[in-house]
Amino acid sequence: MTKEQALLIEGGKRLNGTVRCSGAKNSILPLVAAAIAVRDVVTFQNVPDIADLRSLLELITAMGITVVSFKDGELTLDSRGPIEPRVENTNGYSLRGTQTMVGALLAREHRAMLPSLGGCSIGARPIDLHIKGLRAMGTSFEWKDGYLVGQAAALKACDVYLDFPSVGATENLLLAAALAEGTTRVFNAAQEPEVYDLISFLNKAGARIVPVFPFGFRIEGVGQLHGTSHRIIGDRIEAGTLMIATAITQGESTITGIDARHIWSVIAKLRETGANVDVQGDDAIVVQGVEGYRSTDIRTLTFPGYPTDAQPQMISYLTLARGNSVVVESIFENRFGAILELERMGARIKVTEETAIIEGVESLNSATVQAKDLRGGAALVLAGLAAHGTTTVKSLRHIDRGYEALDAKLCQLGASITRVDREEG
Ligand code: EPZ
Repeated sequence: MTKEQALLIEGGKRLNGTVRCSGAKNSILPLVAAAIAVRDVVTFQNVPDIADLRSLLELITAMGITVVSFKDGELTLDSRGPIEPRVENTNGYSLRGTQTMVGALLAREHRAMLPSLGGCSIGARPIDLHIKGLRAMGTSFEWKDGYLVGQAAALKACDVYLDFPSVGATENLLLAAALAEGTTRVFNAAQEPEVYDLISFLNKAGARIVPVFPFGFRIEGVGQLHGTSHRIIGDRIEAGTLMIATAITQGESTITGIDARHIWSVIAKLRETGANVDVQGDDAIVVQGVEGYRSTDIRTLTFPGYPTDAQPQMISYLTLARGNSVVVESIFENRFGAILELERMGARIKVTEETAIIEGVESLNSATVQAKDLRGGAALVLAGLAAHGTTTVKSLRHIDRGYEALDAKLCQLGASITRVDREEG
């Protein structure tokens, strides 16, 4: 039996009030890797206290990096000391967040050792594009004793074209090129806000990275980087999750700490269903849900298209829309994990390969459901907010990986949620 936690969610409460979203999970993970390349003291503000970050801090401590402090959203790291460029999978942490360590360790130590990056529940998560780009910059890779070992006597600048605008591959190449000799250009690069957050930090630390048309970056390698401090951007996926939570309960909430330009796709889609969404100043979004909202269609794409990370949450919302909705998941091969559980709550969804057809129903019924991945778990919480009765969402570890106290934030908006310990077989 394992010790797990679950949420008991009493459905039917309209969310109402104001809540501030935390800093972006998908910013702080690559930024911790970037701190290694900087080889100095760096401080980040607006940092979310989430399990994925805690695990990553354990990993870098084992490598020799000092976590000076992490309190009240402020994280200070000292990477001046000698380090062992090997990522130990000490705590079974899903190593996805460490993929950008490769570029940082190669830039700093010209060597990187990672255990298999393994897939996760939403897909195989290969790193072939990372390896292809780093090889082009002079890195050799080989598997040795279960570790992927990358070595580069000297990283050399070059033009790299990404077959797919992979976020992680883009971040790895930016980190490797920042300290390479010469000027590197990356084409068909990811344009996600978290990539620009990483660039903003690196440039403050002395890097020379500029965007080039179309969808590329030019990186002029420098001899070394220096310490700095950086406030990370708000988490657009958490903001989108809170917006959809408000809409599915026909409530009215203000979400602060978010740049609306980072989540315009969710704003547009909620408006298409009839919800009222207003942008207030440069860091707040007001959502007013409506009864009998309409269906709409979604195709997940790279930024600024609709984010795959907000797809499961939108499916929960559309189960109660008037009419049929079509959702196409074009980024990951297995991101409909929550649908079976939603069907157990009365949702009507038909899945063929990457397409889900959602037939709107009058209501959802409470059930005991199990989170299987981060965003699918959030989708089940949202369904519980709207269902009749009390829904139990088990295996909270998946949700706590990437959301800082999602249940507390929802309770701040008037939800009735209790977090309980449970034994799970
Ligand atoms: C980042 O993952 C995010 N994680 C993911 O967020 C997010 O879903 C994803 O970008 C897309 O936006 C972090 O930033 C820590 P990709 P990443 O490389 O970098 C394929 C969440 O819920 N691919 O852009 O791994 C890959 O299999 C998480 O917060 C290759 O085929 O995403 C996927 O199908 C989930 N070969 C697609 O590209 C490669 O070498 C997008 O992957 C790399 C990627």
